[in-house]
Amino acid sequence: MNRIEQYQGNLLNHIEALYRPGERELALALVEALGCSVSDTGFSGDGPESFLAVHPNPGDADIRNNAFYISPMRPEQQALEASLARLARDDRELRAALEGYRGAARTLPFGVSHFGLRYVSEDALKEAYAAVGETLSERLGERLHLRIFHPEDGEGAQATMVQAFVYQDVIVSGSFTYGQLIELQGPAR
Ligand SMILES: [Fe+2]
Repeated sequence: MNRIEQYQGNLLNHIEALYRPGERELALALVEALGCSVSDTGFSGDGPESFLAVHPNPGDADIRNNAFYISPMRPEQQALEASLARLARDDRELRAALEGYRGAARTLPFGVSHFGLRYVSEDALKEAYAAVGETLSERLGERLHLRIFHPEDGEGAQATMVQAFVYQDVIVSGSFTYGQLIELQGPAR
């Protein structure tokens, strides 16, 4: 198989994502259930823990390309998330809007911001979403939701692929208050 570093064109090369302080091990459990491998970049920036590079293709651990990074949420975002949580507790309108958004993310993920991982086969895709459910649903409870679209359901984006949407707030490239959808995509048999 060609290595990503041999690819000559421009490409989408990484996503910067975060976990909550204290949840590094939980974030690792999630990405490993997704079938990814992990490299420690050794780079910490201004944070207390090193950036981990997560590789969707475990056989090609290029820390620069085809990877997403995870590192702990910084104090500025912790302050913002804490303010949002406090406001949501006190403001019925904001609380309702958040619940509406989270409901859409669980049930109608198309058009809700996300990033996607591609799997080489439907079996590989199934293995990943089954592992996420088995290893994390008990620990995460309401923090994890899985929605699978098969072509025969007629609700997915395309007839040629299976899409599994993992909605969670362990790893986000954005807001922990909003949560993060990760789409797992594979070819339909
Ligand atoms: Fe998508």
